[in-house]
Amino acid sequence: MKKFTVLLLNGPNLQLLGTREPEIYGSTTLADIVARVKTLGSELDCEVIDYQSNVEGFLVDRISQAYSEKVDGIIFNPAAYTHTSVALRDALAAVKIPTVEVHLSNIAGRDEFRHKSLTLPVSLGVIAGFGAESYLLALRALAAHLDKTK
Ligand code: DQA
Repeated sequence: MKKFTVLLLNGPNLQLLGTREPEIYGSTTLADIVARVKTLGSELDCEVIDYQSNVEGFLVDRISQAYSEKVDGIIFNPAAYTHTSVALRDALAAVKIPTVEVHLSNIAGRDEFRHKSLTLPVSLGVIAGFGAESYLLALRALAAHLDKTK
């Protein structure tokens, strides 16, 4: 059995990675990202389970399910819901599962409406701007946090 269980959670339109605005999000597909995070997870003794949805409520449900499953940590790219979703913020605040927010792009350097994250204040921190690599950095940060605190 692995030391930690980590939920890799992805929000709307990320199923289109690889073809979606590659000049912003890169050419790596979501399946490739998931595979890379799982490989790194094995090295760091983390079991990685993954879920993607375009539906806000399904993401809320998955977060509350993670609480019942005693998931140790979450890596979360809420995508556009980052900037709009009180429901996702409340879900993270409710379950108190340590969460690292991830973005492929540097949201601080893009449109003004992307500068604000509603989910970041209830997360441990954010890694943004490194493309697919952001997810791997997030897993390293989360695993280090769990090693210190669990
Ligand atoms: C994103 C940034 C968001 O602003 C955008 O809505 C996304 C992707 C990113 O990973 O860079 O869908 O979360």
